[in-house]
Amino acid sequence: MARYHGTPKRGHWSSRLGFIMASAGSAVGLGNIWKFPYITGMHGGGAFVLFFLICIALIGIPLMIAEMVIGRHTHKDPVGAFRTLAGGPWSMVGWLGVTAGFVILSYYCVVAGWAVNYLWLAIKGTFGGGHIQQVPELFSSLLASDLSQLFWQALFMGATIWIVLGGVSDGLERASKLMMPVLFLILIVLTVRGLFSPGGPRALSFLFTPNWRMLDAAAMLEAMGHAFFTLSLGMGAMLTYGSYANERTNIPNVAITVSIMDTCVALLSGIAIFSIVFTYGMAPAAGPGLVFKTLPILFSQMQGGTFVAILFFLLLVFAALTSSISLLEVVVAYYCDEKKWQRRTATLVMGFLIFLLGVPSALSNHLLADVHFIGGRNFLDSIDLVATNYILPLGALFIAIFTGWVMTTRVARGEIEKGTVNFHFYPLWHFLIKYVSPIMVAILFLSKIGLI
Ligand code: PHE
Ligand code: NA
Repeated sequence: MARYHGTPKRGHWSSRLGFIMASAGSAVGLGNIWKFPYITGMHGGGAFVLFFLICIALIGIPLMIAEMVIGRHTHKDPVGAFRTLAGGPWSMVGWLGVTAGFVILSYYCVVAGWAVNYLWLAIKGTFGGGHIQQVPELFSSLLASDLSQLFWQALFMGATIWIVLGGVSDGLERASKLMMPVLFLILIVLTVRGLFSPGGPRALSFLFTPNWRMLDAAAMLEAMGHAFFTLSLGMGAMLTYGSYANERTNIPNVAITVSIMDTCVALLSGIAIFSIVFTYGMAPAAGPGLVFKTLPILFSQMQGGTFVAILFFLLLVFAALTSSISLLEVVVAYYCDEKKWQRRTATLVMGFLIFLLGVPSALSNHLLADVHFIGGRNFLDSIDLVATNYILPLGALFIAIFTGWVMTTRVARGEIEKGTVNFHFYPLWHFLIKYVSPIMVAILFLSKIGLI
């Protein structure tokens, strides 16, 4: 991540692999391992998963290409990019993205804090003893302590600020390249373990047999919103990362690779987690605590469970960190490029403000547990819902319309075909981004808010 070294002002990824790894780092995160399984459980499995995959293929991949195209063409932050290409009200789209980054990072740090706490528990050997009964209690007692949640949230936010501040050294880029394969490997081990447990077959049928009655407008919007969230789309994160890519990079190739990696991690986590759910007769709709209440059971049953638990939570924290830095980067890039703040000031001030906005999320399970917002949800779940079901789809809608209708074919096609020979994919991409994505997003969005 040469960009972080300060001078020259706009850097480039050191290599195509570096770009892929950083983008995959942004995409693969809590969205895959924490959120995907739990919302899938809440929405009854199969049909939700299938619709989610359709959204990834028809909207997600084209949109990731679009964001990277805009970023690489302008080499600017989201606001600057839209202002350069079209000006006027379009820079609002960039601004919406900056807001989304601010809001999402606020509660992302709280959930990541839970993962750091579990890493600490794993190091202490808590998951090694084969005590299944106490596993769910561990999570409830974490949620019941406002102070420890604030502590772990602050610690994680501190780490995020520290990386964005001090510069993501080559060390982190190298670490990404090492950690991603290890994450895959350990997920595969957990998935296989899960599949061979008594609940394995039921987990597969839960995840892949569609029950279409469960799929109402709310579920569809949730699936689509999550497709954006999990691929880091709709708010300019991939646009910003694309702005650091060089002219030889084959953007569709990168976008497709990253999307496939992200989807695999989500599906593997789902299989591992639901195998445990069905083996131990737990509720699939257990909500946001699902991953924390299930996987530790598996660890406590395994040979070398403590070691596997440490490794798993270490990787989970790391996956969250490579996502959180991309969220903060969008906000920081805006204040540096547009408001001419110093990078240091922007990182510290914005990091601190985002931490403050996260405080009600950290307190939402205990001190503020009785304060309900959308549909009886607490603060954390409500703000997550607003970000993923409203802000990201809205951002995605504007980006798709912009790319399909405002940006000239010459620019779009030129960017897409750089680094490739005979790129026949362009007409398909253009059709998807011009018609399919905006129409699908608009229909789901309007039907959810009750306008059609
Ligand atoms: N994609 C990340 C995840 O799945 C979250 C994220 C969303 C990161 C938006 C950046 C931008 O955890
Ligand atoms: Na993701």
